[in-house]
Amino acid sequence: MRSILPEPPTQLKQTSDQLLGLIIDEIHDSGPIPFSRFMERALYEPGLGYYSAGLYKFGAEGDFVTAPQLGSVFAKCLASQLSQAAAELGAYEVLEVGAGTGKLAVDLLDALDVDARPRRFSFLERSADLRRQQQLAVTQSGLDTEIRFEWLDAPPDRSWQGVLLANEVIDALPVERFELRDGSIQRLCVAESQGQLDWALEAAPDSLTGTVTRVAGQDRPLPDGYRSEICTMLAPWLNALTGRMERGCALFIDYGYPRDIYYAPERSDGTLICNYRHRAHDDPFFYPGLQDISAFVDFTAVAEAADHCGLTVAGYTSQSSFLLDCDLEQVLAGMEHMQDRQRIELANEVRRLTLPTEMGEKFQCMFLSRNLESEPRGFRSQDLRFRL
Ligand SMILES: C[S@@+](CC[C@H](N)C(=O)[O-])C[C@H]1O[C@@H](n2cnc3c(N)ncnc32)[C@H](O)[C@@H]1O
Repeated sequence: MRSILPEPPTQLKQTSDQLLGLIIDEIHDSGPIPFSRFMERALYEPGLGYYSAGLYKFGAEGDFVTAPQLGSVFAKCLASQLSQAAAELGAYEVLEVGAGTGKLAVDLLDALDVDARPRRFSFLERSADLRRQQQLAVTQSGLDTEIRFEWLDAPPDRSWQGVLLANEVIDALPVERFELRDGSIQRLCVAESQGQLDWALEAAPDSLTGTVTRVAGQDRPLPDGYRSEICTMLAPWLNALTGRMERGCALFIDYGYPRDIYYAPERSDGTLICNYRHRAHDDPFFYPGLQDISAFVDFTAVAEAADHCGLTVAGYTSQSSFLLDCDLEQVLAGMEHMQDRQRIELANEVRRLTLPTEMGEKFQCMFLSRNLESEPRGFRSQDLRFRL
């Protein structure tokens, strides 16, 4: 796999070597570390992790493209869903978690009618570098003269009502990897061998065994050697984010599956996916800190976590259906009068967002609500909750 990936420049290799050294030190001190710990350091080690260092991650110059980076169609459709929530909530605020460059926030607020805009827009972002990019995007937009923006270090510790938004964030939460071996569950850990990282199998702690046994292979036996991932921090994370939300909703958009597809016997090597210079591959040990590492989302687990937090799963559907229900047609109105180049770019953007072979089906949307009455607009045509 490594042979098809472009070599990073020397300076970046040195940064990665620094992080590799720190990870190896930890392995020497404590023995092989759980994969979740490795993923945490590879993505978020201060100054060195993928999201913490100042690398260009998104778009053509970076490693991958997210829906908001393709243009403004995604944000305009989200604005349609938000305005429905705004109408029901009255005065409300938005909390965007993991907002990347801040483009979605700015495009979304631009697309909202002035009277449907939130009073306050808060960002919760782990990366200091991305936080700076978000601040710049907000300042350049001029929206800060009208809306109060803030950057939080932790979920709100006061009660609030509004909308929580997270696009492609759950996939970036560190996961555990496990393997089924001779009928027992083993934890995949990260060890060191001759200065390089390598996999090591260890008996899984009881808590992990219990969770994996509950979620995977319940209805169909899984083959020996089967590997997959599980995000054990999902429920506490959601609880921390929504614990003080008195009334409102949370919208999560991400690549993922309902559980029976996630843990299908034929998906025997899990869903871990690494992105480097627009090449998707499965080697998480390739230059730690220089590439993105993520795992698909088990949306059944999100629904269970929601239940645990006292939230209602009010909608679950594919991204294409969500965008169509959120007035995609209206967003594209007048397209025929555009210049050729602009029209072609817009058509390409819509294709990327909606085609089943692109983001349309792979990406799914889940709407969780608390003390809201109305049926969310983006979920009217296709209700996939029965799949969870
Ligand atoms: C794949 S990027 C998505 C960025 C953006 N939402 C977009 O769609 O372009 C993941 C983002 O989530 C952030 N992130 C990951 N875990 C987080 C957490 N626990 N709290 C806040 N931000 C987090 C990362 O720093 C990054 O900004």
